[in-house]
Amino acid sequence: MTLFAATRPPRHIAVGPGQRHAIGTYARAYGNRALICTDERMGQDPALRDLVDSLAAAGVASQVYDRTLPEVPMSSVAECMEIARAFGPDLLVGLGGGSCMDLTKVVAVLLAHGGEPHDYYGEFKVPGRVLPVIAVPTTAGTGSEVTPVAVVADPEKTLKVGIASPELIPLVALCDPELTMTCPPGLTAASGSDAMTHAVEAFMAARREPSSDLSYSHVFLGKNAFSDMYALQAIAKISANLETAVKNGSDMKARENMMWASMLAGLAFGVAGTAAAHALQYPVGALTHTAHGLGVACLLPYVMEYNRPSCVPELVQIADAMGLPRTGEDDDARAIAAIDAVEDLFIRVGIPRTIRDLGLADDQLDWAADQAMGAARLVKNNPRALDVAAMGHILHAAQTGARADLRKLPA
Ligand SMILES: NC(=O)c1ccc[n+]([C@@H]2O[C@H](COP(=O)([O-])OP(=O)(O)OC[C@H]3O[C@@H](n4cnc5c(N)ncnc54)[C@H](O)[C@@H]3O)[C@@H](O)[C@H]2O)c1
Ligand SMILES: [Fe+2]
Repeated sequence: MTLFAATRPPRHIAVGPGQRHAIGTYARAYGNRALICTDERMGQDPALRDLVDSLAAAGVASQVYDRTLPEVPMSSVAECMEIARAFGPDLLVGLGGGSCMDLTKVVAVLLAHGGEPHDYYGEFKVPGRVLPVIAVPTTAGTGSEVTPVAVVADPEKTLKVGIASPELIPLVALCDPELTMTCPPGLTAASGSDAMTHAVEAFMAARREPSSDLSYSHVFLGKNAFSDMYALQAIAKISANLETAVKNGSDMKARENMMWASMLAGLAFGVAGTAAAHALQYPVGALTHTAHGLGVACLLPYVMEYNRPSCVPELVQIADAMGLPRTGEDDDARAIAAIDAVEDLFIRVGIPRTIRDLGLADDQLDWAADQAMGAARLVKNNPRALDVAAMGHILHAAQTGARADLRKLPA
């Protein structure tokens, strides 16, 4: 196999307890008026005060928008833009989970290029540089602090929509695990399982022909040597730390490892892309109104099972990364063991076993299968070919919990 590796990290990434306090120094290098986009929860958190003080000490004036709603409805974008226009920032800070960071990225685009969010839906629609963004995640997490994507909920679209452009990659990511200590178990589980899904889907993504224009002609390039390295390290760390972080939220080591791993998973999927689990989550999320992380994680073991015939070597490496003991089994059995281990981990942290448990009705499966095919960039990134019938089979198994039924499909 020919070597191909591509990575697009932020200009600066700092990870570790206390790293948020570096914000003043970084901010000063890129501007002197910072709009901090966060939500009501983080707006009350002493961490926000720390950021404002650190910015002030560095001579950077700041203003706070603290009404971002989860999953980024258009109302949050409009409100934040109004505050931004009045304040005139030259720098944006996204403090919060994926929702706050994604809102910040959208506002960075709109302030630089005008127009409406829908002007930029899809890939490569952002025409050039956007305002500098410093991302400070408080969940571990979406990886949005390092990715080229922002996902929003537009009432004119049934499904959530994404803006995907390398211009959206934050300039600075300050990943401070102390900020995740207040995440309750359910949020820790959902966001940590989202990170695991990013790492697994990036590692199992399709591999493209490494033409010389590959690294700039797609936002999501498929599996490569960089994304593999990030993804395997993320899988190892999440598998060893997610349950502890959920069940003992004050375990700093587990929180550190989850923050590190979710950022690495972001680096992996931000270039490689995700695949069927994320494509299926668009309609499943729209129908059940459940958190993104719960949906993708619930779907992932079924997607892994469907993809298994195309990915046995990758699944064997996932089993190794998860530290599963070798029992002399053959590769096919070890591939199944990797899927079992991911499913077991998710069940131990409280991810629903079926999409029926998420609230999907049996008569919604056909519509969901059809809609999932609309996420073309994710569908083409899946390692095994997908069509509506295949999406239907995966959804049916995920609805009934009959994962083994997917083994009966002709390869
Ligand atoms: N841009 C990307 O690359 C990317 C990747 C995956 C998901 N996403 C998007 O991210 C969003 C989900 O983000 P999320 O899972 O981080 O959750 P979130 O940002 O939607 O936040 C969920 C809730 O958790 C609270 N919260 C956040 N941090 C907390 C903390 N430290 N302590 C206590 N409460 C806290 C928030 O206030 C909010 O009420 C979705 O919209 C999803 O589509 C984006
Ligand atoms: Fe995700």
